[in-house]
Amino acid sequence: LDNGLALTPPMGWMHWERFRCIIDCDNYPTDCISENLFMDMADKMASDGYLDAGYEYIIVDDCWLAMERDSEGRLQADPDRFPSGMKFLADYVHAKGLKFGIYEDYGTHTCGGYPGSIDHLELDAQTFADWGVDYLKLDGCYAELDGMEDGYAEMEAYLNKTQRPIVFSCSFPAYKGLDANYSAAVEHCNLWRNYGDIQDSWDSVVKITNWFSYYQDKLLPYAGPGHWNDPDMLIIGNYGLSYDQSVAQMTIWSVMAAPLIMSVDLRTIKPEFRDILLNKDAIGINQDVLGKPGVVKYNKNKIKIWVKELVDGSYAIGIASFRVDGKPYQIEIVLKDYGLDNEGYLINNVFEDVEPISVSVTEPIKVLINPTGGVLWKLIPATKVVVEVTFRKFGN
Ligand code: GLA
Repeated sequence: LDNGLALTPPMGWMHWERFRCIIDCDNYPTDCISENLFMDMADKMASDGYLDAGYEYIIVDDCWLAMERDSEGRLQADPDRFPSGMKFLADYVHAKGLKFGIYEDYGTHTCGGYPGSIDHLELDAQTFADWGVDYLKLDGCYAELDGMEDGYAEMEAYLNKTQRPIVFSCSFPAYKGLDANYSAAVEHCNLWRNYGDIQDSWDSVVKITNWFSYYQDKLLPYAGPGHWNDPDMLIIGNYGLSYDQSVAQMTIWSVMAAPLIMSVDLRTIKPEFRDILLNKDAIGINQDVLGKPGVVKYNKNKIKIWVKELVDGSYAIGIASFRVDGKPYQIEIVLKDYGLDNEGYLINNVFEDVEPISVSVTEPIKVLINPTGGVLWKLIPATKVVVEVTFRKFGN
């Protein structure tokens, strides 16, 4: 969607994967979907380095709505869990330097059974703009599949009419499958879910990764600045992924140019997982302004290798292992086999605290990759290095 937004993949935090539809604030006072939860997370995003690293949107997912619209037909938040209302929450989030996102559904009901937007699209777009919403995730439960693309286009027009810049996340591709009109998604949406929901497990990460890799020829041409495929949230820091699996998810999402939307309790996340989410080089690869998603160029022996072109002639290479045979697995990579054509490169190993190494494009490089783990490299053309060395040699 050419609205000047999401020129790089959106980054933020969304409650769904971790906090679901917890509405029982008596038994779950700190975890229930309430204004307190979002204020806590906004505080953490601002104080613990996430905002500085680029995580910008804090997005309220399903289960925030009251069961009834107000007397004028407007949506309203659940009065017990959001007693100060959504405008207050948006203001609070904005005061922290963050942006505010919200969830609704194109159909009669949200997936959680709350009032949907159909028949109220224009009013709802205006209500969101009045509250100060900067990002709308419009889901597709309880909706007719026929003509869904037109319905989302209509909503986009209403959002546009409010004159408030609002990132528009669509869901029709996830509901319509590969038959969805992806050109319509590019035209009317800043990002779109293509596939099923992520769950808190490595299996789920694997399933999603395999699906996107299997259909990459179809999907990748649609992604670029302003319009992204969305494989769903990062689950790093929760119950389901080990450290290595978390590095793998961050590696895969970074090279895929996927939106980086965390869903984790930022109040209790362990430092090693926080460090993965805050890794500057991984984020830099993901946010590269060329906006080209990486391509899987090797897919054998339960190892996948992605190559992502970056704007300045550098590359990123992401390697993920889906092996479970205990020991780290060794592979050999010759860069020229992956389409890299400079004479040499300086390899920076993003998740390892090691010195960059200098390699030629023809020499085999041995890599050890942990079971269900990931390795992420940034490769800088080595001409710069060669020039420096030459200067030193000749005393210039
Ligand atoms: C669908 C979406 C999820 C989440 C839930 C909320 O399943 O795909 O991301 O928004 O609805 O009910």
